[in-house]
Amino acid sequence: MGKSYAVIGDPIDHSLSPNIHSAAFRELNLDASYIAYRIPRDELEIGIEGLKKIKIDGFNVTIPHKVEMMKYLDKIDETCSVIGAVNTVTNENGILKGYNTDMDGFLDPIKKRKIEIKNSRVLLLGAGGAARAIVAGFAKEKSQDISIYNRTETKSRELVKFAKSLELNSSEITLSSIKNEIREYDIIVNATSIGLQNEDSIIDFDGVKENVLVYDIVYMPMHTDFLNKAKERNTKIIFGYEMLLGQAVRAFEIWHKIEAPYNAMKKALLGGV
Ligand code: ATR
Repeated sequence: MGKSYAVIGDPIDHSLSPNIHSAAFRELNLDASYIAYRIPRDELEIGIEGLKKIKIDGFNVTIPHKVEMMKYLDKIDETCSVIGAVNTVTNENGILKGYNTDMDGFLDPIKKRKIEIKNSRVLLLGAGGAARAIVAGFAKEKSQDISIYNRTETKSRELVKFAKSLELNSSEITLSSIKNEIREYDIIVNATSIGLQNEDSIIDFDGVKENVLVYDIVYMPMHTDFLNKAKERNTKIIFGYEMLLGQAVRAFEIWHKIEAPYNAMKKALLGGV
């Protein structure tokens, strides 16, 4: 019997994961299918029961279930316990094991470009779920420090604490201090959802160091105002779709235990952006 996979979340109809994984199945002639399955916030438990009943082989988890899903796992991979959120689940005979591929998915495009993360000074905009995986990534790769800006200060304070608990130096920063200190950073990341609706970037890049790495996790549109402004300044940039692809490749490899067809997956994704 063919294998079946899904992505669960709400809203889910704009998810690109079915396109990416289906393209990989086609490329490798795998007898498998991948669907988007909407599970509202308060129906996670019953939704999971349904997935077990149809003997789903694995699934991705997205907003709003990434943290809540931890409760329903039988086994927890280390990536998942550190971050406190899950985005990839395997099902082996009813035993659910959770992984988090967001962190490595975020790091992969940086490593591909051979950009040194160790001892780097990082500016992070945002303090939501994605930002947490990103902080864990910079801690793992031993950045020197990370300054965190967030609209809601209680959340940036929380994330600074989290960074420190992973032995990564960290402090909060305000928008006005970013203006004065932007030249200090080697890596600047937007992990807010600003850009998704074509909003202007919340920072500009006046005075930025040459060759700084600017990374946006917003993948739709591909060319956000944040990246467009960065490009005007001789910076290196990484697009949001690269992280999306990175986490999908990792999830694919956990499920199928074979190398993912990166180019076919990329092509499917860029067709959809
Ligand atoms: P994700 O899982 O993608 O990180 P999230 O947890 O909802 O999603 O986080 C969204 C992030 O974008 C948060 O940092 C949020 O800031 P708040 O904590 O203040 O809500 C940020 N964000 C979203 N819209 C914003 C806006 N208009 N201005 C500033 N920050 C915004």
